[in-house]
Amino acid sequence: MKNKKRNILLIGGGGREHALADKIRKSPLLGKLHMGRGCDAMAKTVGEFGEIVPQAIGTYEQLADYCVEEKIDLVIVGPEVPLVKGIANKIRAVNIPVFGPTQAAAQLEGSKIWMKQILQKYNIPTAKFACFDDADEAKQYVRDEYKNGYASNQGKIVIKTDGLAAGKGVVIAEDLESALTAIDEAVSGKFGDAGKKLVIEEFMAGEEFSYFAISDGSKAQFFGTAQDYKRAYDGDKGLNTGGMGAFSPAKQETDALNQEIDETILQPLVKAMQEEGMPYCGILFFGIMLTAEGAKVIEINIRMGDPECQVILPRLQNDIISLFEQAAQGDLRDEVQLDDSVALTVVMAAKGYPQSYQKGSIIRGLDKAEKISKDGVIYHAGTKLIEGHYHANGGRVLNITAINQKTLAEARNLAYNIINEIDWQEGFYRTDIGE
Ligand code: AMP
Ligand code: GLY
Repeated sequence: MKNKKRNILLIGGGGREHALADKIRKSPLLGKLHMGRGCDAMAKTVGEFGEIVPQAIGTYEQLADYCVEEKIDLVIVGPEVPLVKGIANKIRAVNIPVFGPTQAAAQLEGSKIWMKQILQKYNIPTAKFACFDDADEAKQYVRDEYKNGYASNQGKIVIKTDGLAAGKGVVIAEDLESALTAIDEAVSGKFGDAGKKLVIEEFMAGEEFSYFAISDGSKAQFFGTAQDYKRAYDGDKGLNTGGMGAFSPAKQETDALNQEIDETILQPLVKAMQEEGMPYCGILFFGIMLTAEGAKVIEINIRMGDPECQVILPRLQNDIISLFEQAAQGDLRDEVQLDDSVALTVVMAAKGYPQSYQKGSIIRGLDKAEKISKDGVIYHAGTKLIEGHYHANGGRVLNITAINQKTLAEARNLAYNIINEIDWQEGFYRTDIGE
């Protein structure tokens, strides 16, 4: 079994999954990599090892049947939405291992209220909070909190929708008036069902970074740190996006901090999920705030970050198929090894993103850009190959990535040197990633 070739099904088709496919392709254990739709660049990376899942497969039941027919050995799920909808349950039901949590465990990302209640129940450090399904009660709570001294937290309070809102359901209100407006907006229907319930949180001041871990249900290990850039424009201006760039490791990472997070957050959470009867398998992605009182959880995601994945995987020394398979089978034996190099990625997005943008513009210069250095990799987040040319086909379009660098400055220089070769008038990017 050990050296048998594995057939893998990879779910998702963005930049994160292109990076996953690149890593999987390099594993000597790979038989065939089956991929969902719409990923020309990924198919090119995987080459003769690739297999495209037929368009006609629409439901998770059909996908499970496909896995049986195609003798899939392991399913790796990139994005959160299929996990929250229960893809892992459907595929595990046909006895195929899945790297990714069950629907019940996926609530850690799918419901902020549920996640906060678990943290509270098991004494895992996070911001003080209250939950509401009624706007008037939420407003009364906020008024009381302002009376009772929220000013000590710089006068700020945080309003969040309960459900998935693609990173847009969070408002940091700077005063009472804007807090009340944010509550009205959240329940206005703009976020659909996600806005039916609200979480109101104490504002935590401090430095923020991302901490990743891999869990097999009962054992969890550190899987790297990253710094991301959420806002659209330089200097953290503009709207929140899915992420405009990232680097790894984060500047805050130290052995002592890793140990603190392992002891106060990671291990207690994995144990809590077991006790709740929903052992957590897959990647845990913690948004961490380093406050004066120590590391606290801001949010939990149930998957790799995008674009954080693009800067962590290049540093991973383990065979990814073997590692993810061990975790999916509840038997994570190998020690996760990340090298000391620095990786950095800059997102090129279509002008207008994260609001409305055009698709279909042509991107030139990619061949030349890719030849600049063996340590430069371009992961495609949203492109389509038409008559031999890549065209923009999404909001976030390319991830220009520098890997194997000694310092952040070198990584930054390389990534921006690559960008200089790319001719795409209809795109934009931040110029301050890693500054
Ligand atoms: P979330 O989607 O919950 O991660 O929130 C998005 C962003 O809002 C986070 O990355 C933080 O920058 C900020 N944020 C969320 N909750 C808090 C909080 N309680 N205190 C301070 N900042 C927060
Ligand atoms: N880049 C943030 C995320 O993937 O949620």
